[in-house]
Amino acid sequence: MDAHSTIYNDLTKILVTREEIAQAVRQLGMQITRDFAGKDLVMVCILKGACVFFTDLIREVDLPLNTEFMSVSSYGSGTSSTGVVRIVKDLDRNIENKDVLIVEDIVDSGRTLSYLVSVLRQRHPRSISIATLLDKPARRVVDLTVQYSCFDIPDAFVVGYGLDYDEKYRNLPDIGVLSPKIYESNP
Ligand code: IMP
Ligand code: MG
Repeated sequence: MDAHSTIYNDLTKILVTREEIAQAVRQLGMQITRDFAGKDLVMVCILKGACVFFTDLIREVDLPLNTEFMSVSSYGSGTSSTGVVRIVKDLDRNIENKDVLIVEDIVDSGRTLSYLVSVLRQRHPRSISIATLLDKPARRVVDLTVQYSCFDIPDAFVVGYGLDYDEKYRNLPDIGVLSPKIYESNP
């Protein structure tokens, strides 16, 4: 807690500790290593939220792979989904016949990923799968298959380990519930 104690004051509680995250990322890396052996793996980081998870996860995958980065905007600075998804930065390379693994920080309504999967499918990859660090199943509004998920969490707004509120808190090493007083004072 020490190095970030000022930011930790904005949390009501720590939901997932850095140790729990590290263990889950290690296990997921081993599973991906098994499942994608012999395939042409492209891991796609969805910026910015997944950046911390992504950089940890790729180092736990013991396979040759390519990395790609994509940025979509869905939320603005608020805490609930608008359903509007826009590609801000697209992939740099062709994914035709590749085995694409989308790496996301959190699946909430599912709208962002559902849209992304439909866009990427049109580019004829051999396969598309999704790996998310967090999932809020209670919030889902679209039908979405998520192949890999580290933690199911309750319906609360969380920050840390890449996840932000208004572009802040991404640097927290743990994942915590943001105190409602933070976003109620800044709607
Ligand atoms: P969806 O389209 O509703 O599934 O929203 C997914 C995106 O919303 C994620 O990539 C996050 O950027 C953002 N998001 C959803 N819930 C949270 C949260 O609790 N904290 C921070 N960002 C969130
Ligand atoms: Mg975000």
